[in-house]
Amino acid sequence: MKQKFVVEGFAGKKKLNGEIKINGAKNAVLPLLAASVLLNKPAEFSNVPKIEDVEKMLELLRNLGAEFNWTGERSLKIAGGKIFGNALEHDNAKRMRASILLTGPLLARFGKVSFPHPGGCVIGERPIDLFIEGFKKMGASVSEKDGLYEISAPKGLVGTEFFFRVSSVTGTETLMMAAIGAKGKTILKNAALEPEVVCLAEFLNSRGARISGAGSSEIIIEGGCELKESASSADKIFPIIPDRIEAGSFLVLGALAANNLKITNCQPAHLDSLIEALRFSGVAVEVGNDWLAVKNNGKIANEMRRAVNIKTREYPGFPTDLQAPMAVFLTQVTGESSIHETIFEGRLNYTADLEKMGADIKMWDSHRALVKGPTLLKGKELDGPDIRAGLAYILAAIIAEGESVINNAYFIDRGYERIEERLQKIGGKIKRVDCEVC
Ligand code: EPZ
Repeated sequence: MKQKFVVEGFAGKKKLNGEIKINGAKNAVLPLLAASVLLNKPAEFSNVPKIEDVEKMLELLRNLGAEFNWTGERSLKIAGGKIFGNALEHDNAKRMRASILLTGPLLARFGKVSFPHPGGCVIGERPIDLFIEGFKKMGASVSEKDGLYEISAPKGLVGTEFFFRVSSVTGTETLMMAAIGAKGKTILKNAALEPEVVCLAEFLNSRGARISGAGSSEIIIEGGCELKESASSADKIFPIIPDRIEAGSFLVLGALAANNLKITNCQPAHLDSLIEALRFSGVAVEVGNDWLAVKNNGKIANEMRRAVNIKTREYPGFPTDLQAPMAVFLTQVTGESSIHETIFEGRLNYTADLEKMGADIKMWDSHRALVKGPTLLKGKELDGPDIRAGLAYILAAIIAEGESVINNAYFIDRGYERIEERLQKIGGKIKRVDCEVC
């Protein structure tokens, strides 16, 4: 059954108050679940978010023969060692970009994998040329017909040196996992530095891999390691890092619409770029060990904040996944803010919908836009186009005047767990509604 969100706006008043707890990171748990393919023993993870994309990845793994069970509210045990298949189930793989993460471990393990071009958020062309080039450099042969890829390395993969022409997060994670099954050493250059890449390397190393340099642009993987159960009981259950994009989304919400909001169970250090941008604009962001907060924020109207230019970059730069939520913030501050989206060429299209709500945003080209503020937004019915723009529409609806309807709740559920319940707890007037057509 399709669902939508109905939101009653606060017309710019800051009425949210309370605490919101951050869940495990979507973009960390997905590569970790894929990594279970490399282990002959089960792996157990804690702080697993209950989101659609996790369900989809588990369905893909089950379809390959994996077995898993929830060992607790947020802990999951998965036996990737039971896998026998190496062809990704078409529909689920087409639904999620992250399905490509399975190709590296399956190729390393079986010397063969077939899969459709991955789907997911329509935020740009999203090619996979770097994955293909990487596999070829490891000695694999690749064929493609009607969008279906067959990759094989009957004699096994061979370690290599690979330079990413463009730094790619899932590209780095996928080739890192493939390299574990390769003969000899692999060096990945211009690799992604994202915390999710580091989290994956830490997990694999705790299971006997020899990966060094994760978190830097040069990662070295010693191949031919047999991965086994963790030696130390300490990390038998591997914790998923908190979701920095979820934490960042709620921090922007707090700056926009809360008087006092504390965001707990997060890693503030992963959000330096956002914290810096909000502080530059005049938001008093408080930072603790594992929490972030805005306090007495109701005293300062958003129009008292100043414009700030945003340029998305690879980590530790400003995350492209927070660009849309931040754009909503920029519609409320005084002055002209430019947004330069450098990662994806189709990730500003949502601005047309914010304009329908009354925002003053001019697209210069597919990568740049100018936001003039402050403007009072008016409630509207909108179709959420993807995870992050969908969440941005909820933020816009909360600060708008009147009622908004956000269709395609599914997209938001892909990345945010039970969003309406968590927002209701801090005073948000939002409900989830079933709808035949929306
Ligand atoms: C990851 O996507 C995240 N997804 C994305 O989050 C995030 O937006 C993105 O990294 C950037 O931070 C997951 O981790 C599952 P990329 P990914 O490969 O790995 C180009 C969300 O909302 N490129 O780092 O797919 C590509 O076109 C999602 O949670 C090639 O040219 O992104 C882009 O311009 C959305 N060829 C750039 O690299 C390739 O073969 C970076 O993309 C691969 C990528």
